Amino acid sequence: MGQPPKPVPAEATISSTMIEQHHLIERLLGRLTQAVLHMTAPEDRAASRRLLLRLRKNLYAHMDLEDGLLFREFESQSGLLEEGPTATLRREHEVLRGRLDELLAEWKTASVSALSRHLAAFGALYTDHCRREDVMYGICERLLSPEQSAKAKSLLQSRGSSAPTDSKRKPS
Ligand SMILES: [Fe+2]
Ligand SMILES: [Fe+2]
Repeated sequence: MGQPPKPVPAEATISSTMIEQHHLIERLLGRLTQAVLHMTAPEDRAASRRLLLRLRKNLYAHMDLEDGLLFREFESQSGLLEEGPTATLRREHEVLRGRLDELLAEWKTASVSALSRHLAAFGALYTDHCRREDVMYGICERLLSPEQSAKAKSLLQSRGSSAPTDSKRKPS
């Protein structure tokens, strides 16, 4: 906790970097949950909303890489489109995006208990989703051509993925 973000090591694989992103987003979610519990003044709500926006931005970029490259290549090589594991994960992405948008829409007006409940439900879904993806990444990564692998790594680097925008963490 409280350490500055580390650059992506040269030997980091796509899988390890994606798994690290899961943990970073989980930590952001933990901070957000705590921030909600301590909201009293209007500025607390504005600050926690900025945290939610940061989480949303990071998670959207993460899911875009899965949908647009990792899962797509798995599907095109395995032929498992509608009934395969990635189809389920893609559907869950839609649910996760929808839940985040709902949270954002209600953030300014909902009670602390409602926000906490909705965040907890989102967290349970997200954690379950990630555990299944952690297993899929190795398979997906092995199917990438050298060019696709380089592209994925460059996207991860350019997004500062190993610590997306988690660098604004307050000292604890
Ligand atoms: Fe995902
Ligand atoms: Fe993921």
